[in-house]
Amino acid sequence: MNMLIKGGTIVTSEKTFVSDILIENGIISQIGESLTLPQNTRTIDAEGNYVFPGGIDPHVHMALPTPAGPSADDFLTGSIAALYGGTTTLLDFVTPRKGQSLVEALDLRIQEAAKSLTHYSFHVSPVEWRPTTEEEITACFSKGITSFKVYMAYKRAVGLNDDDFYKVLQTVGRLGGMVTVHCELGDEIDVLRDQFVQEGKVSPEFHMKSRPPQLESEAVQRAIHLAEKAKCSLYIVHVSAKASLDNIRNARQQCNTVFAETCPHYLLLDDSKYFGSFQETVPYVISPPLRKKEDNEALWQAIAKGLVQTLGTDHCPFNLSQKSVGINDFRRIPNGAGGVEHRLSLLYTYGVLTEKISLKKLVDVFSTQPARLFGLFPAKGHIAVGADADLVIWNPRSEQVITAANHHQHCDLEIYEGVSTKGHAEFVIVNGLVVLENGKVKEDAGLGTFLQRGK
Ligand code: URP
Ligand code: ZN
Ligand code: ZN
Repeated sequence: MNMLIKGGTIVTSEKTFVSDILIENGIISQIGESLTLPQNTRTIDAEGNYVFPGGIDPHVHMALPTPAGPSADDFLTGSIAALYGGTTTLLDFVTPRKGQSLVEALDLRIQEAAKSLTHYSFHVSPVEWRPTTEEEITACFSKGITSFKVYMAYKRAVGLNDDDFYKVLQTVGRLGGMVTVHCELGDEIDVLRDQFVQEGKVSPEFHMKSRPPQLESEAVQRAIHLAEKAKCSLYIVHVSAKASLDNIRNARQQCNTVFAETCPHYLLLDDSKYFGSFQETVPYVISPPLRKKEDNEALWQAIAKGLVQTLGTDHCPFNLSQKSVGINDFRRIPNGAGGVEHRLSLLYTYGVLTEKISLKKLVDVFSTQPARLFGLFPAKGHIAVGADADLVIWNPRSEQVITAANHHQHCDLEIYEGVSTKGHAEFVIVNGLVVLENGKVKEDAGLGTFLQRGK
Protein backbone atom coordinates (compact mmCIF):
# COMPACT_ATOMS: atom_id res chain seq x y z
CA MET A 1 0.00 0.00 0.00
CA ASN A 2 1.33 3.43 -0.99
CA MET A 3 0.51 6.55 0.93
CA LEU A 4 0.21 10.26 0.22
CA ILE A 5 0.52 12.65 3.14
CA LYS A 6 -1.11 15.79 1.85
CA GLY A 7 -0.52 19.41 2.78
CA GLY A 8 1.31 18.95 6.07
CA THR A 9 3.93 21.35 7.41
CA ILE A 10 7.08 19.27 7.13
CA VAL A 11 9.70 20.00 9.76
CA THR A 12 13.28 18.81 9.51
CA SER A 13 16.24 19.93 11.57
CA GLU A 14 17.06 22.35 8.72
CA LYS A 15 13.78 23.71 7.38
CA THR A 16 10.01 23.98 7.69
CA PHE A 17 7.87 23.88 4.55
CA VAL A 18 4.42 22.86 3.35
CA SER A 19 4.43 19.98 0.91
CA ASP A 20 3.10 16.52 0.08
CA ILE A 21 4.99 13.30 0.80
CA LEU A 22 4.58 10.12 -1.23
CA ILE A 23 5.54 6.83 0.39
CA GLU A 24 6.14 3.68 -1.66
CA ASN A 25 7.28 0.35 -0.22
CA GLY A 26 8.02 1.91 3.15
CA ILE A 27 10.33 4.57 1.73
CA ILE A 28 9.72 8.26 0.99
CA SER A 29 9.72 8.30 -2.81
CA GLN A 30 8.71 11.90 -3.59
CA ILE A 31 8.28 15.22 -1.81
CA GLY A 32 6.56 18.06 -3.66
CA GLU A 33 3.24 19.25 -4.93
CA SER A 34 0.91 17.73 -7.55
CA LEU A 35 2.67 14.37 -7.30
CA THR A 36 1.73 11.59 -9.70
CA LEU A 37 0.16 8.89 -7.60
CA PRO A 38 0.60 5.19 -8.19
CA GLN A 39 -2.49 2.97 -7.90
CA ASN A 40 -3.61 1.89 -4.43
CA THR A 41 -2.53 5.06 -2.71
CA ARG A 42 -4.14 6.01 0.57
CA THR A 43 -4.30 9.78 1.12
CA ILE A 44 -3.93 11.25 4.60
CA ASP A 45 -4.91 14.88 4.95
CA ALA A 46 -2.25 16.59 7.09
CA GLU A 47 -3.27 20.21 6.48
CA GLY A 48 -2.81 22.28 9.64
CA ASN A 49 -0.63 19.58 11.20
CA TYR A 50 3.13 19.15 11.42
CA VAL A 51 4.98 16.21 9.92
CA PHE A 52 8.06 15.23 11.93
CA PRO A 53 10.50 12.37 11.39
CA GLY A 54 9.65 9.54 13.79
CA GLY A 55 11.26 10.07 17.17
CA ILE A 56 14.40 8.20 18.15
CA ASP A 57 14.71 7.81 21.90
CA PRO A 58 18.42 7.17 22.52
CA HIS A 59 17.96 6.03 26.14
CA VAL A 60 15.33 3.60 27.42
CA HIS A 61 15.37 0.59 29.75
CA MET A 62 12.58 -1.90 28.99
CA ALA A 63 12.37 -4.84 31.43
CA LEU A 64 15.60 -3.79 33.11
CA PRO A 65 16.44 -6.53 35.65
CA THR A 66 16.75 -5.22 39.23
CA PRO A 67 16.48 -6.84 42.70
CA ALA A 68 12.96 -5.32 42.89
CA GLY A 69 11.97 -7.06 39.64
CA PRO A 70 12.20 -5.85 36.06
CA SER A 71 11.31 -2.27 35.14
CA ALA A 72 7.58 -2.23 34.50
CA ASP A 73 7.42 -1.81 30.71
CA ASP A 74 8.58 -4.64 28.50
CA PHE A 75 9.35 -4.17 24.81
CA LEU A 76 5.69 -4.56 23.81
CA THR A 77 4.09 -2.21 26.34
CA GLY A 78 7.00 0.23 26.23
CA SER A 79 6.98 0.40 22.45
CA ILE A 80 3.22 1.02 22.46
CA ALA A 81 3.71 3.91 24.89
CA ALA A 82 6.56 5.18 22.70
CA LEU A 83 4.31 5.19 19.62
CA TYR A 84 1.66 7.23 21.43
CA GLY A 85 4.43 9.77 21.94
CA GLY A 86 5.59 9.76 18.31
CA THR A 87 8.74 7.70 18.93
CA THR A 88 9.36 5.02 16.31
CA THR A 89 12.87 3.84 17.29
CA LEU A 90 14.17 2.89 20.74
CA LEU A 91 17.78 2.50 21.78
CA ASP A 92 17.82 0.24 24.83
CA PHE A 93 20.67 -1.50 26.65
CA VAL A 94 22.25 -4.89 26.99
CA THR A 95 23.37 -5.42 30.59
CA PRO A 96 25.02 -8.84 30.94
CA ARG A 97 25.34 -10.78 34.16
CA LYS A 98 28.89 -10.85 35.56
CA GLY A 99 30.69 -13.65 33.77
CA GLN A 100 28.27 -13.68 30.82
CA SER A 101 29.64 -12.85 27.39
CA LEU A 102 28.48 -9.60 25.80
CA VAL A 103 27.52 -11.50 22.65
CA GLU A 104 25.36 -14.03 24.47
CA ALA A 105 23.64 -11.22 26.40
CA LEU A 106 23.11 -9.31 23.14
CA ASP A 107 21.57 -12.31 21.39
CA LEU A 108 19.16 -12.86 24.29
CA ARG A 109 18.21 -9.19 24.36
CA ILE A 110 17.52 -9.19 20.61
CA GLN A 111 15.09 -12.08 21.17
CA GLU A 112 13.48 -10.27 24.12
CA ALA A 113 12.94 -7.14 22.00
CA ALA A 114 11.40 -9.01 19.06
CA LYS A 115 7.88 -8.10 20.27
CA SER A 116 8.60 -4.38 19.97
CA LEU A 117 6.30 -2.40 17.67
CA THR A 118 9.01 0.22 17.19
CA HIS A 119 12.44 -0.33 15.66
CA TYR A 120 15.16 -0.98 18.19
CA SER A 121 18.85 -1.32 18.79
CA PHE A 122 21.07 -1.42 21.87
CA HIS A 123 24.04 0.09 23.61
CA VAL A 124 25.99 -2.87 25.05
CA SER A 125 27.35 -2.50 28.61
CA PRO A 126 30.58 -4.17 29.64
CA VAL A 127 30.05 -4.53 33.41
CA GLU A 128 33.57 -5.87 34.04
CA TRP A 129 36.80 -6.26 32.06
CA ARG A 130 37.72 -9.86 31.32
CA PRO A 131 40.44 -11.29 29.05
CA THR A 132 37.78 -11.82 26.35
CA THR A 133 36.04 -8.45 26.60
CA GLU A 134 37.95 -6.89 23.70
CA GLU A 135 37.00 -9.66 21.29
CA GLU A 136 33.41 -9.63 22.59
CA ILE A 137 33.14 -5.91 21.83
CA THR A 138 34.52 -6.58 18.34
CA ALA A 139 31.98 -9.39 17.86
CA CYS A 140 29.15 -7.03 18.92
CA PHE A 141 30.36 -4.60 16.26
CA SER A 142 30.03 -7.26 13.59
CA LYS A 143 26.44 -7.81 14.77
CA GLY A 144 25.58 -4.13 14.16
CA ILE A 145 26.28 -2.61 17.59
CA THR A 146 28.40 0.54 17.40
CA SER A 147 27.71 2.06 20.83
CA PHE A 148 28.59 0.82 24.29
CA LYS A 149 27.63 2.00 27.77
CA VAL A 150 29.70 2.38 30.89
CA TYR A 151 28.39 3.19 34.35
CA MET A 152 30.68 5.20 36.62
CA ALA A 153 27.96 4.90 39.30
CA TYR A 154 26.37 1.72 40.73
CA LYS A 155 29.85 0.40 41.56
CA ARG A 156 28.45 -2.51 43.58
CA ALA A 157 26.43 -3.79 40.61
CA VAL A 158 27.41 -2.75 37.09
CA GLY A 159 29.86 0.17 37.51
CA LEU A 160 33.41 0.09 36.15
CA ASN A 161 36.53 1.54 37.74
CA ASP A 162 38.55 4.04 35.70
CA ASP A 163 41.10 1.46 34.49
CA ASP A 164 38.43 -0.76 33.00
CA PHE A 165 36.50 2.22 31.66
CA TYR A 166 39.69 3.29 29.87
CA LYS A 167 40.10 -0.17 28.31
CA VAL A 168 36.54 0.00 26.95
CA LEU A 169 37.25 3.48 25.55
CA GLN A 170 40.46 2.31 23.85
CA THR A 171 38.77 -0.71 22.29
CA VAL A 172 35.65 1.11 21.08
CA GLY A 173 37.76 4.10 19.94
CA ARG A 174 39.92 1.80 17.80
CA LEU A 175 36.77 0.38 16.18
CA GLY A 176 35.38 3.88 15.51
CA GLY A 177 32.36 3.52 17.82
CA MET A 178 30.81 5.57 20.60
CA VAL A 179 31.01 5.06 24.36
CA THR A 180 28.03 6.37 26.28
CA VAL A 181 28.54 6.98 29.97
CA HIS A 182 26.54 7.47 33.16
CA CYS A 183 28.61 10.10 34.95
CA GLU A 184 28.42 10.06 38.75
CA LEU A 185 31.34 9.16 41.01
CA GLY A 186 30.09 5.86 42.38
CA ASP A 187 32.56 5.29 45.23
CA GLU A 188 31.93 8.70 46.80
CA ILE A 189 28.16 8.23 46.43
CA ASP A 190 28.32 4.82 48.13
CA VAL A 191 30.12 6.37 51.11
CA LEU A 192 27.46 9.09 51.43
CA ARG A 193 24.61 6.61 51.05
CA ASP A 194 25.96 4.36 53.78
CA GLN A 195 26.61 7.33 56.07
CA PHE A 196 23.04 8.64 55.73
CA VAL A 197 21.53 5.26 56.45
CA GLN A 198 23.75 4.78 59.51
CA GLU A 199 22.42 8.14 60.76
CA GLY A 200 18.85 6.93 60.25
CA LYS A 201 18.32 9.18 57.21
CA VAL A 202 16.54 6.63 55.05
CA SER A 203 13.92 8.56 53.04
CA PRO A 204 14.03 9.49 49.30
CA GLU A 205 15.29 12.97 50.26
CA PHE A 206 18.60 11.33 51.13
CA HIS A 207 18.78 9.60 47.77
CA MET A 208 18.98 13.12 46.34
CA LYS A 209 21.39 14.36 49.03
CA SER A 210 23.77 11.43 48.51
CA ARG A 211 24.19 12.33 44.83
CA PRO A 212 25.22 16.03 44.74
CA PRO A 213 25.82 17.75 41.39
CA GLN A 214 29.58 18.02 41.99
CA LEU A 215 29.84 14.23 41.90
CA GLU A 216 28.24 14.34 38.46
CA SER A 217 30.36 17.20 37.10
CA GLU A 218 33.60 15.67 38.42
CA ALA A 219 32.70 12.38 36.77
CA VAL A 220 31.96 14.24 33.52
CA GLN A 221 35.41 15.83 33.69
CA ARG A 222 37.06 12.47 34.37
CA ALA A 223 35.18 10.73 31.54
CA ILE A 224 36.11 13.48 29.07
CA HIS A 225 39.76 13.24 30.07
CA LEU A 226 39.82 9.45 29.65
CA ALA A 227 37.98 9.57 26.32
CA GLU A 228 40.34 12.20 24.92
CA LYS A 229 43.35 10.14 25.99
CA ALA A 230 41.84 6.99 24.46
CA LYS A 231 40.73 8.85 21.30
CA CYS A 232 37.16 7.67 21.59
CA SER A 233 33.91 9.53 20.94
CA LEU A 234 32.01 10.07 24.16
CA TYR A 235 28.28 10.57 24.75
CA ILE A 236 27.31 11.66 28.25
CA VAL A 237 23.85 10.38 29.10
CA HIS A 238 21.24 12.16 31.23
CA VAL A 239 23.20 15.34 32.04
CA SER A 240 21.33 16.97 34.89
CA ALA A 241 23.64 19.62 36.38
CA LYS A 242 24.67 23.09 35.25
CA ALA A 243 28.21 22.39 36.51
CA SER A 244 28.49 19.43 34.11
CA LEU A 245 27.60 21.72 31.21
CA ASP A 246 30.61 23.93 31.99
CA ASN A 247 32.91 20.90 31.60
CA ILE A 248 31.18 19.78 28.41
CA ARG A 249 31.44 23.30 26.96
CA ASN A 250 35.18 23.42 27.66
CA ALA A 251 35.70 19.99 26.09
CA ARG A 252 33.72 20.84 22.97
CA GLN A 253 35.84 23.96 22.47
CA GLN A 254 38.88 21.63 22.17
CA CYS A 255 37.38 18.70 20.26
CA ASN A 256 34.16 17.73 18.53
CA THR A 257 33.87 14.18 19.83
CA VAL A 258 32.12 14.87 23.13
CA PHE A 259 28.31 14.81 23.03
CA ALA A 260 25.60 15.22 25.64
CA GLU A 261 22.04 14.12 26.29
CA THR A 262 19.53 15.42 28.79
CA CYS A 263 16.02 14.23 29.67
CA PRO A 264 12.65 16.01 29.97
CA HIS A 265 12.62 15.59 33.77
CA TYR A 266 15.89 17.52 34.13
CA LEU A 267 14.34 20.36 32.10
CA LEU A 268 10.99 20.49 33.86
CA LEU A 269 11.17 19.11 37.40
CA ASP A 270 13.30 20.10 40.39
CA ASP A 271 14.47 18.86 43.76
CA SER A 272 11.45 20.23 45.63
CA LYS A 273 9.89 16.86 44.65
CA TYR A 274 11.98 15.15 47.38
CA PHE A 275 10.18 16.85 50.26
CA GLY A 276 6.99 15.08 51.34
CA SER A 277 5.75 11.62 52.28
CA PHE A 278 7.40 8.42 51.01
CA GLN A 279 4.58 7.90 48.50
CA GLU A 280 4.86 11.47 47.20
CA THR A 281 8.64 11.47 46.87
CA VAL A 282 9.53 7.92 45.85
CA PRO A 283 8.53 8.29 42.16
CA TYR A 284 11.43 10.75 41.82
CA VAL A 285 14.11 8.32 42.99
CA ILE A 286 16.10 8.45 39.79
CA SER A 287 19.81 8.85 39.13
CA PRO A 288 21.07 11.46 38.80
CA PRO A 289 18.41 13.07 41.01
CA LEU A 290 16.41 16.15 40.08
CA ARG A 291 18.36 19.39 40.54
CA LYS A 292 17.49 23.10 40.98
CA LYS A 293 15.46 25.42 38.78
CA GLU A 294 18.68 27.12 37.65
CA ASP A 295 19.90 23.74 36.34
CA ASN A 296 16.62 23.36 34.40
CA GLU A 297 17.19 26.75 32.81
CA ALA A 298 20.84 26.08 31.98
CA LEU A 299 19.87 22.82 30.26
CA TRP A 300 17.23 24.53 28.11
CA GLN A 301 19.85 27.05 27.03
CA ALA A 302 22.33 24.25 26.35
CA ILE A 303 19.80 22.59 24.03
CA ALA A 304 19.06 25.86 22.25
CA LYS A 305 22.79 26.49 21.69
CA GLY A 306 23.63 22.93 20.61
CA LEU A 307 25.78 22.16 23.65
CA VAL A 308 23.36 19.32 24.45
CA GLN A 309 22.51 17.45 21.26
CA THR A 310 19.79 14.97 22.22
CA LEU A 311 16.80 14.46 24.48
CA GLY A 312 16.43 10.89 25.77
CA THR A 313 13.86 9.83 28.33
CA ASP A 314 15.85 7.28 30.37
CA HIS A 315 12.48 5.52 30.45
CA CYS A 316 12.74 3.05 33.34
CA PRO A 317 9.39 2.90 35.18
CA PHE A 318 8.71 0.98 38.37
CA ASN A 319 5.40 0.42 40.12
CA LEU A 320 4.80 1.73 43.63
CA SER A 321 4.99 -1.83 44.99
CA GLN A 322 8.47 -2.17 43.49
CA LYS A 323 9.66 1.20 44.75
CA SER A 324 8.24 0.39 48.21
CA VAL A 325 10.92 -2.23 48.90
CA GLY A 326 12.98 0.77 49.98
CA ILE A 327 10.49 2.25 52.44
CA ASN A 328 13.01 1.85 55.28
CA ASP A 329 16.18 2.29 53.21
CA PHE A 330 16.38 4.50 50.11
CA ARG A 331 19.33 2.41 48.87
CA ARG A 332 16.95 -0.43 48.04
CA ILE A 333 14.56 1.66 45.91
CA PRO A 334 14.97 0.76 42.22
CA ASN A 335 16.16 3.87 40.40
CA GLY A 336 14.16 5.11 37.45
CA ALA A 337 10.92 6.60 36.14
CA GLY A 338 8.82 6.44 32.98
CA GLY A 339 8.66 9.06 30.25
CA VAL A 340 8.95 7.48 26.79
CA GLU A 341 5.40 8.57 25.97
CA HIS A 342 5.80 12.23 26.88
CA ARG A 343 9.05 13.33 25.23
CA LEU A 344 7.46 15.03 22.23
CA SER A 345 4.47 16.62 23.93
CA LEU A 346 6.65 18.05 26.72
CA LEU A 347 9.26 19.32 24.29
CA TYR A 348 6.58 20.87 22.10
CA THR A 349 4.62 22.44 24.97
CA TYR A 350 7.45 23.61 27.22
CA GLY A 351 10.14 24.15 24.56
CA VAL A 352 8.52 25.33 21.33
CA LEU A 353 5.39 27.04 22.66
CA THR A 354 7.39 28.94 25.27
CA GLU A 355 9.89 29.91 22.53
CA LYS A 356 12.83 28.31 24.33
CA ILE A 357 13.58 26.30 21.18
CA SER A 358 12.49 26.33 17.55
CA LEU A 359 10.52 23.57 15.81
CA LYS A 360 13.69 22.68 13.88
CA LYS A 361 15.58 22.26 17.14
CA LEU A 362 12.77 20.07 18.45
CA VAL A 363 13.22 17.75 15.47
CA ASP A 364 16.98 17.86 15.87
CA VAL A 365 17.05 16.68 19.51
CA PHE A 366 14.03 14.38 19.18
CA SER A 367 15.16 12.51 16.08
CA THR A 368 17.94 13.84 13.84
CA GLN A 369 20.82 14.01 16.31
CA PRO A 370 20.10 10.61 17.90
CA ALA A 371 20.10 9.21 14.32
CA ARG A 372 23.35 10.94 13.43
CA LEU A 373 25.20 10.03 16.62
CA PHE A 374 24.12 6.40 16.63
CA GLY A 375 24.60 5.50 12.97
CA LEU A 376 21.00 5.63 11.75
CA PHE A 377 21.14 8.76 9.58
CA PRO A 378 20.03 9.48 6.81
CA ALA A 379 17.67 6.48 6.60
CA LYS A 380 16.16 7.63 9.90
CA GLY A 381 15.95 10.98 11.70
CA HIS A 382 15.16 12.83 8.48
CA ILE A 383 12.41 13.57 5.97
CA ALA A 384 13.88 13.30 2.48
CA VAL A 385 13.50 11.22 -0.66
CA GLY A 386 15.04 7.81 0.03
CA ALA A 387 14.59 7.98 3.81
CA ASP A 388 12.56 5.37 5.69
CA ALA A 389 8.92 6.35 6.10
CA ASP A 390 8.90 6.57 9.91
CA LEU A 391 6.84 9.71 10.50
CA VAL A 392 4.63 11.49 13.03
CA ILE A 393 1.73 13.70 12.00
CA TRP A 394 1.41 16.07 14.92
CA ASN A 395 -1.83 17.87 15.68
CA PRO A 396 -0.73 20.97 17.61
CA ARG A 397 -4.20 22.08 18.70
CA SER A 398 -5.28 19.55 21.34
CA GLU A 399 -4.78 19.93 25.08
CA GLN A 400 -4.43 17.22 27.69
CA VAL A 401 -3.26 16.55 31.22
CA ILE A 402 -0.78 13.76 31.95
CA THR A 403 -1.96 11.26 34.55
CA ALA A 404 -1.16 7.69 35.54
CA ALA A 405 -4.86 6.96 35.18
CA ASN A 406 -4.75 7.24 31.40
CA HIS A 407 -1.13 7.11 30.25
CA HIS A 408 -0.07 4.10 28.18
CA GLN A 409 3.07 3.32 30.15
CA HIS A 410 2.61 0.08 32.06
CA CYS A 411 3.13 1.64 35.45
CA ASP A 412 1.05 3.08 38.29
CA LEU A 413 3.42 6.00 38.94
CA GLU A 414 3.71 9.11 36.78
CA ILE A 415 6.34 11.77 37.49
CA TYR A 416 4.47 14.30 35.31
CA GLU A 417 1.13 13.73 37.10
CA GLY A 418 -1.11 16.76 36.48
CA VAL A 419 1.17 18.40 33.91
CA SER A 420 -0.74 19.99 30.99
CA THR A 421 0.47 19.46 27.44
CA LYS A 422 -0.53 20.67 24.00
CA GLY A 423 -0.55 18.61 20.83
CA HIS A 424 -0.76 14.89 20.14
CA ALA A 425 0.25 12.37 17.49
CA GLU A 426 -2.68 12.13 15.05
CA PHE A 427 -0.93 9.47 12.94
CA VAL A 428 2.28 7.54 13.48
CA ILE A 429 3.75 5.75 10.51
CA VAL A 430 6.42 3.05 10.74
CA ASN A 431 7.92 1.58 7.57
CA GLY A 432 5.15 3.28 5.59
CA LEU A 433 2.42 1.57 7.66
CA VAL A 434 -0.01 3.47 9.87
CA VAL A 435 0.49 2.15 13.40
CA LEU A 436 -1.45 4.86 15.24
CA GLU A 437 -4.62 6.56 14.12
CA ASN A 438 -7.90 7.68 15.71
CA GLY A 439 -6.06 7.97 19.02
CA LYS A 440 -5.13 4.27 19.10
CA VAL A 441 -2.07 2.16 18.39
CA LYS A 442 -2.87 -0.78 16.12
CA GLU A 443 -1.09 -3.61 17.84
CA ASP A 444 -1.41 -5.84 14.76
CA ALA A 445 0.08 -3.31 12.34
CA GLY A 446 3.48 -4.97 12.26
CA LEU A 447 6.60 -5.41 14.30
CA GLY A 448 9.60 -3.14 14.48
CA THR A 449 12.98 -4.33 13.28
CA PHE A 450 16.37 -4.74 14.92
CA LEU A 451 18.48 -1.99 13.37
CA GLN A 452 21.97 -3.18 12.59
CA ARG A 453 24.23 -0.17 12.64
CA GLY A 454 27.60 0.44 11.03
CA LYS A 455 26.70 -1.77 8.06
O1 URP B 1 17.51 6.21 37.65
C1 URP B 1 17.82 5.79 36.53
N1 URP B 1 18.32 6.61 35.67
N2 URP B 1 17.62 4.49 36.25
C2 URP B 1 17.95 3.82 35.06
C3 URP B 1 19.40 3.42 35.00
C4 URP B 1 20.28 4.59 34.66
O2 URP B 1 21.08 4.99 35.49
O3 URP B 1 20.22 5.12 33.56
ZN1 ZN C 1 22.17 6.19 34.14
ZN1 ZN D 1 19.40 5.02 31.90
